[in-house]
Amino acid sequence: MTATVLSTAHLPVDVGPLLGGHDFFEPATGELSRAEILSRIGSAKGLISLLNVAVDEELFAAAPNLKVVANYAVGYDNVDVAGATKRGIVVTNTPDVLTEATADFAFALLMAACRRLGEGERLVRDGAWQGWSPTLLLGQPIYGQTLGVIGAGRIGQAMLRRGLGFGMTILYSGPRRSAGADALGARYCELEELLAHSDAVSLHCPLTNATRHQIDGAALKRMKSTAVLVNTARGGCVDTDALAEALREGVIAGAGLDVFDGEPIVPNSLLGCKTAVLAPHLGSATSVAREGMAKICADAIRRVLAGEPAPTALNPEVMT
Ligand code: DGY
Repeated sequence: MTATVLSTAHLPVDVGPLLGGHDFFEPATGELSRAEILSRIGSAKGLISLLNVAVDEELFAAAPNLKVVANYAVGYDNVDVAGATKRGIVVTNTPDVLTEATADFAFALLMAACRRLGEGERLVRDGAWQGWSPTLLLGQPIYGQTLGVIGAGRIGQAMLRRGLGFGMTILYSGPRRSAGADALGARYCELEELLAHSDAVSLHCPLTNATRHQIDGAALKRMKSTAVLVNTARGGCVDTDALAEALREGVIAGAGLDVFDGEPIVPNSLLGCKTAVLAPHLGSATSVAREGMAKICADAIRRVLAGEPAPTALNPEVMT
């Protein structure tokens, strides 16, 4: 079956009626394989892609009618935006609607890593808990400590606000100052300084050539031995082997990780780290956020196919 709008995965809300009359195909459950995407994309003018789908030259070559790619994520490192622009294809993402959900989850991971929640839960479930003890699973304090956010965009700022609520001193780093972060009273500093002074470091940067493995062995060694690292951004921002080694050697106290390089495969080196709290990429996983993301994608496709600009376009110049 061919369709004008194709989704690579089943979505949590029926977007068919939101597409301005264009016919729509999504799998009844789960996701399409790469081969299925390539075989169906030929007739599509609009594509809703998940973050694990490479929207690249191979896909564009199979998609002569494609006008708009609505990436079902705020991150778009899976999309060749420059390649799309060359072909006159608009690319959109889903900012704002997932900001608070993702920051909530990042702070949950921060708390879980600081307070050793994963280890505690396993102890209870394994029936190995011997009772209350003055020294059982002592963790790191959160209230009044220092939070360092790498990348103070929408989600980074939402994380900083959560830090303020916990009486934390807040720092941020990134390629440029953020008026929003400054207004919160966060101090802008170089990455090296942020790493050295923070009790919790949380990544909120996009994955780009500049940020790939930004947290490597040297960066981890700059952190306090009592600090935790939180990653809800992209796995590729962290050198996994270096992180596993740092956790094993006690270079840092723990990590809260929602994203992994090469996910859903999580290397044994990390699975073996008891001070790492591991989650299956759940940052935006609330019904409200995920339904909102689907509606933003549908709206963007409807608009572009009607010749209107899409508010979430990453390459709006294509429409001018
Ligand atoms: C994103 O939007 O980029 C998240 O990783 C998934 O919601």
